Amino acid sequence: MLYVWSVVCFGGLTMSLAALLMAAARVLVNYGQCKLDINAGEKPLDVEGGQTLLAALYANEIFIPSACGGKGSCGHCKITVTAGGGPILPTELPYLVRKEVRSNVRLACQVKIREDIFVRIPSDLLNVRMFDATVESTTQLTHDIKEIRMKLDDPDEISQRPGQYVQVQAPSPEGPVFRAYSISSAAHDRNAVELVVRLVPGGIGSTYLHSVSPGDRVNFTGPYGEFYLSEDPSTEIVCVGGGCGMAPMKNIIYTLYDRWPERTCWLFFGCRTTADVFYLDQFRKLAEEFPNLRVIYALSEPDGEVEKWNGETGFVHLSVDKHLEPGVARQAFLCGPPPMIDAVTQVLGAKGLRPEDIFYDKF
Ligand code: FES
Repeated sequence: MLYVWSVVCFGGLTMSLAALLMAAARVLVNYGQCKLDINAGEKPLDVEGGQTLLAALYANEIFIPSACGGKGSCGHCKITVTAGGGPILPTELPYLVRKEVRSNVRLACQVKIREDIFVRIPSDLLNVRMFDATVESTTQLTHDIKEIRMKLDDPDEISQRPGQYVQVQAPSPEGPVFRAYSISSAAHDRNAVELVVRLVPGGIGSTYLHSVSPGDRVNFTGPYGEFYLSEDPSTEIVCVGGGCGMAPMKNIIYTLYDRWPERTCWLFFGCRTTADVFYLDQFRKLAEEFPNLRVIYALSEPDGEVEKWNGETGFVHLSVDKHLEPGVARQAFLCGPPPMIDAVTQVLGAKGLRPEDIFYDKF
């Protein structure tokens, strides 16, 4: 009898405890409505607590960069949290330099909203939109690089600066992910966005974009990026690219000659072999129309092709060194593999360019 009584008591106690824990959990994880304040009252929002800051921003159509779908593995979703973000998490630290930690920069996908939260977001990012677009054409430029041109449906116009990029939404087994691509179409080409995409084996974004055909629908957010072309027409522009680092160069050059037909611009483009050369005829034709455009392509591995190649050979930074006179006011934009960027940066520094005049995109 005593045994049965003990079992009943113990069972009852366990059930009460479980009920108590469930009730407590419900209270503890229910953060209710919280305030999400952006830029000190510029955009106050009411959001559901318990979600990540990134999810709350996206739900309110504020598309800060994110390439890993909120998994905390790309480090792109940085914003400043001035209050209410809780302590910094170990998952954020690998992506933040000491200065960012001191300035309260956080990974929005790792910050959970548990109370009213106050953030700062650059105004450029508040203008980022989600675009619906239709593929207009695809062009194979080399064995692994494709140009994809998309007509904008909604919104049907984009206001972008050369050097900016979009984040294309690509399907993956774990749901949609975003991948960043520089815009190659010129800023005045407002109803379309064109990309130049190298196929990366196993790459989710590039595999998707290489599979689309005219008529297919594509979504992307943008534009993103901090690059500003100098408005001073006497400042020469130097573009140095390699591989699919061509995309921002094409945008810069066509935008530049639409606004300043007399301006001097240098395009240095590094390829391994003639099989990697693209857009050369197009730029040579443009240079006939705008004689201050100088187009220099260099092959780094021209073996057996020298007879049929009338451009330069060697690494592209050597061409930059050979052609640019020192002491001229210039702004440079570099896009390509890290060793190329490092070598070109050194050459440009020796020619008198200040670090703040050199913008680069390493990939
Ligand atoms: S979205 Fe990739 S780290 Fe936050």
